[in-house]
Amino acid sequence: MEQYYNTTELPAVQRIARRSENWFRKHQRRLPWRRTYDPYHVWVSEVMLQQTQMPVVLRFYERFIGRFPTIDDLASASFDDVAAAWSGLGYYRRARMLRDCAIAVRERFGGTLPSDLQSLMSLPGIGRYTAGAIASIAFERHAPIVDGNIARILARLFGVKSMRTTWDRAEKLVEATRSPRVFNQAMMEIGALICRPKNPLCNQCPLRRECRAFARGRTQLAPRKRAKTREVKIALYIVTDRRGRILMRRESGSLFDGMFVLPQGIRRGRVVGCVRHRITNRRITFVVYRSANGQRRMANEEWIDPKNLENIPHPAYVRKALQIAGIR
Ligand code: ADE
Repeated sequence: MEQYYNTTELPAVQRIARRSENWFRKHQRRLPWRRTYDPYHVWVSEVMLQQTQMPVVLRFYERFIGRFPTIDDLASASFDDVAAAWSGLGYYRRARMLRDCAIAVRERFGGTLPSDLQSLMSLPGIGRYTAGAIASIAFERHAPIVDGNIARILARLFGVKSMRTTWDRAEKLVEATRSPRVFNQAMMEIGALICRPKNPLCNQCPLRRECRAFARGRTQLAPRKRAKTREVKIALYIVTDRRGRILMRRESGSLFDGMFVLPQGIRRGRVVGCVRHRITNRRITFVVYRSANGQRRMANEEWIDPKNLENIPHPAYVRKALQIAGIR
């Protein structure tokens, strides 16, 4: 058994690494994929744990591995068989990706998962998190991982806010560890068991003396979950009549309830440009068209004189669209 003492004389990053590792060796949960750290087992468990709670994963994991003991078995199975073994875990896209990835691993890597981040990330369905988890937990590579739990720990420990800084800190920490396998799992375990979103158990935490939130009595703070950004494209039409008035529609029921917006779905005109805009969790590219002559007007539409726009409520993206069309 290795002995670590005098951790107070080490730089903060190393102290955090040592304390986490020591804690994990004592307090880790016994989990089936931790018996051998077979890369295939680590991969399957991480994919399952991404969107499914631990108790559910523990009910399905061994059955799944029993049904497909190797990556080759998974690659040879039909999609229906994989999906059947996945049933109960939800988010079936993961089952499809798992099988697609197994096929790619068989074709490109002779049926064994590669150990480096680049190769791992070149595989279908394997992103930065999963690649980092496999590289570190199965292969002891010094690769960082950040999931929701780790982001919360790092936010509390260091007060970091952006995901970029969070990944940077995770990288610095994992570089300072003796065992990336132990350290990354320690962070996940501390996140799940101690540094919980609500009511964290700071008095049991090996990192409380390093923790900025603990020192400031602000441990209830946790980064807010941000929904995944969706990319959307929407066509907007600037229709004008002979007097130069613009056709606008009064919105109802949406985020912009009661405001005037531009009509959508006309399908003719020429493109005058694009407006990029973020609304809640959507990143929208508005493609702005100009169509002359406005013979049509629906019940909720009105002809608006651009001179009156000042007095007419309209969202920022509409203002930007009118600007690039040279109106106002
Ligand atoms: N959650 C996701 N991956 C995990 C792991 N390897 N150990 C504990 N909790 C996890």
